[in-house]
Amino acid sequence: MVSIYNAPPWNDKWTEETALESLYTILEFPKFYGNVIVDGDKIIGAIMGHNRRYATETTYYIYEFFVSDKYRRKGVATNLYKNTIDELNELGISGAFFTTLRNSSAYNFYVKQGALDLIDSACFYHKF
Ligand SMILES: CC(C)(COP(=O)(O)OP(=O)(O)OC[C@H]1O[C@@H](n2cnc3c(N)ncnc32)[C@H](O)[C@@H]1OP(=O)(O)O)[C@@H](O)C(=O)NCCC(=O)NCCS
Repeated sequence: MVSIYNAPPWNDKWTEETALESLYTILEFPKFYGNVIVDGDKIIGAIMGHNRRYATETTYYIYEFFVSDKYRRKGVATNLYKNTIDELNELGISGAFFTTLRNSSAYNFYVKQGALDLIDSACFYHKF
């Protein structure tokens, strides 16, 4: 997580400490749902979020989704994403919300999976 999001296009400034703090926050959500994909004993990709009831359906909110750079373009994320969707479908979850940067590999990935870039919606950040 640290090496992936400290690189372009994100250019964040994560440390192991802040990454752990962030991951523990997600893990503590009451309806946390996540999966990892491993190569031997090494985690090479992860998807993490939580399920939330909304009116007529329950939706998965994705907070983290990534694959280590040396494992990319081999279908690892597709495998992780599709298996997670299948599991969520069995639990009655009917869709997912998430944000990403338009100019990113993740944007192309989500579009290829059939996700919609909602033109009637806005993604805000309000700096206090
Ligand atoms: C997005 C990400 C998870 C994709 O992982 P991956 O294992 O390489 O994805 P896949 O091999 O399953 O790729 C499936 C499809 O996604 C698209 N895609 C993936 N990486 C791409 C890239 N760098 N450029 C353009 N399209 C890309 C392609 O359509 C690809 O199909 P193809 O290989 O047949 O062309 C990975 O690039 C990543 O971890 N990025 C950094 C973290 C991130 O941005 N996470 C999302 C935050 S919201």
